[in-house]
Amino acid sequence: MSAERDALVARAREACGSAHAPYSGIHVGAAIRSAAGVTYTGTNVENAAYPLGNCAEASAIAAGVQAEGAKFRIAETAVWAFDRERHPIAISPCGGCRQRIREFAADYTVKVHFPWQGGGLRTATVDELLPYAFELPGARAP
Ligand code: THU
Repeated sequence: MSAERDALVARAREACGSAHAPYSGIHVGAAIRSAAGVTYTGTNVENAAYPLGNCAEASAIAAGVQAEGAKFRIAETAVWAFDRERHPIAISPCGGCRQRIREFAADYTVKVHFPWQGGGLRTATVDELLPYAFELPGARAP
């Protein structure tokens, strides 16, 4: 049990309530605790032109970058999702969001928590979620 993890999951769950997801009905919330100790949340924002929608993780990262600038690093992340009836559903970050989270991870052992089948919470590191990740040639580790 970790109080920090539980608090982050609670913030992600809370954020689901602000999602704009009229098309998929999947209301996603993301919560990121930065290395500076501040928590940022975000939701998915869908659009009638479907590909223009963005993921909750991207929204939370945008909030962190806006607040902390170039120093923004992710220390821990949680996502949560509700269906149209506000029932929790299993979800994990999509491939693109795995790459987004990795870009800002303080290191690649940073934990990502997500609701999984059977009502359980799963935890994986950034490296476990995205092995063999894309990197620009010559890019530094975080
Ligand atoms: N979604 C997220 O917000 N994060 C993910 O990691 C996966 C998918 C959103 C996008 C879309 O609004 C809805 O979930 C269904 O794909």
